[in-house]
Amino acid sequence: MCGIVGYVGGQDALPILLGGLEALEYRGYDSSGLALVKDGRVEITRATGKLHELKKLFAAQLAVAKSSATQGIGHTRWATHGRPTETNAHPHCAGRVSLIHNGIIENYVELRAELEKQGCFFKSETDTEVAAHLLNTLLEKGLDPREAMRQMCAAVRGSYAFLAIDEKTPGHIFVAKNSTPIIIGKGQGENFVASDIPAVLQHTRRIVVLEDGDLADVTADAIYIENGRKPVERREETVSWDPITAQKGGYKHFMVKEIFDQSQAVADTLRGRFSIETGAIFLPELAGLEAVAKRLKRVILVGCGTAWHACLEGKFFIENFAKIPCDVDYASEFRYRPQLFDSDTLVVAVSQSGETLDTLGAIECVKDRATTLAICNVVGASICRRADMVLYTHAGPEISVASTKAFSTQLIALELLGLFLAERRDTMSPSTRRAIVESMIHAPVGISNALKVEPAVVSIAKRLATARDFLFLGRGTCYPIALEGALKLKEISYIHAEGYPAGEMKHGPIALIDESMPVVVILQREKTLFEKTLSNLREVEARGAKVVVVTDAPEDRQLGIASDFIIRVPFVSPELSPLLLNLPLQLLAYHVAVMNGTDVDLPQNLAKSVTGE
Ligand code: AGP
Repeated sequence: MCGIVGYVGGQDALPILLGGLEALEYRGYDSSGLALVKDGRVEITRATGKLHELKKLFAAQLAVAKSSATQGIGHTRWATHGRPTETNAHPHCAGRVSLIHNGIIENYVELRAELEKQGCFFKSETDTEVAAHLLNTLLEKGLDPREAMRQMCAAVRGSYAFLAIDEKTPGHIFVAKNSTPIIIGKGQGENFVASDIPAVLQHTRRIVVLEDGDLADVTADAIYIENGRKPVERREETVSWDPITAQKGGYKHFMVKEIFDQSQAVADTLRGRFSIETGAIFLPELAGLEAVAKRLKRVILVGCGTAWHACLEGKFFIENFAKIPCDVDYASEFRYRPQLFDSDTLVVAVSQSGETLDTLGAIECVKDRATTLAICNVVGASICRRADMVLYTHAGPEISVASTKAFSTQLIALELLGLFLAERRDTMSPSTRRAIVESMIHAPVGISNALKVEPAVVSIAKRLATARDFLFLGRGTCYPIALEGALKLKEISYIHAEGYPAGEMKHGPIALIDESMPVVVILQREKTLFEKTLSNLREVEARGAKVVVVTDAPEDRQLGIASDFIIRVPFVSPELSPLLLNLPLQLLAYHVAVMNGTDVDLPQNLAKSVTGE
């Protein structure tokens, strides 16, 4: 997610804006920029890379500790549209407008075409620049800035937190919010605007949180807010957090913040990629697949760790939706196997960071002999430059080593890929596709509801935190979730945990089971798998294990008898069950680790991106 800061008041704006962006660095970014208002003129400065590159460009002003600007806006960019270059960095300018943006404008292509017809010249590849030109065009028509903001926001579709400066209206910062966070920090004779509390905390603890549809006009002495053209009052809150806690949004660790970010992450990954009415899938970034989709004979999904678990789920989507045989392989194994595939093969590499050496190696060894696609969370990462195409997840920066929101968005991306291929291969009826798309819309709410089980998970974690071994069992699409649950627990709590297909338990692991080994059973509601897994569960329970069931099945008397703990999540659709059933396992791993006092966000021996072999 991008970092946004704005200031208007009596102090020197430069150090305030740079300091605010520094406080937001943890969010991850690849370029940055400022617009400073000096003597009625707006000066734009942008740089790729880290903030010290931008600060170098202000060395003179910072040396004399005076920039003579008392108003400005600043931005750190987490690229979603367009590579991380200086031209794509914010602020974007058009005529008298300088604008920064956090979010995704879905209809930027058509808006850009319309504006180009009107003579607008675009310099960047971004969606944001469209908003700058649109606002400038409206201002040049003579609209007052507030009306121009209203009409610009009415024209764009998607998520946004806009901060705009009109050179002909100095002393004002115009703000608009939809789906992407924005707060206003209240000062004495000065006011601040930011995407997140840490950016303003050293100046004020009085904040106002804007709501979707809010437009604000912020000056040094006043904050005007409206919604639906009507003035509104937003409650002022006082923040008691220290700066570090504030970076985690008030959560104790990044991991739990990111667990609770998943509704937004999934919503952002879905945004603009399908039609509810027709069930059509829009993935223009996969244009290279349009010509080959019909003749694909094989798909190979490769990844490491959690990404490999996502690949195991992706197999179900590719085979059930697109009717293409699909293999899944560890990237570290795949790259050393005989490469027996041809141009009718699609190799999909899944990687949150896009820098995992084994996954990069897997893509390398395929080059030119098959079509390659990367599913990645970091725009411009190494894997994105090596694959033929990229399908980005929009989870935002994932700071914690344990992957949570990235995994959920990888499942969504793989489901979209399966639907995309099915539509082009005509292997799924439009009505079935529409029904699945319809269910995906409910994923963000389903996630929020599923995470309400946290109190129940905490009490279970208290009972099991001292165990030294866990077994996770699941069948069908719940088997990869058993693997993922085991990985989450082991990597952050250092407790040994294994994931196994429930049907395999009798072929060995059952020898381990006794009252000292908790067994977590992931149980989907599908009748056959439910009954077969229930019988496995009874065998486990008969040997004295503590049994934790995570399920989206309706109440079942036998289940109650055979399990010590039951965690229920809402059922949305068979396709979304794995994603929702995984959420309690993320919380279980997190709370067990916290109770065991491990470094949850940076576990021993682990790195966020494994760039070695
Ligand atoms: C997941 O919690 C782990 N941190 C690890 O398994 C991770 O998924 C793996 O290293 C792959 O990383 P990538 O998605 O960035 O390629």
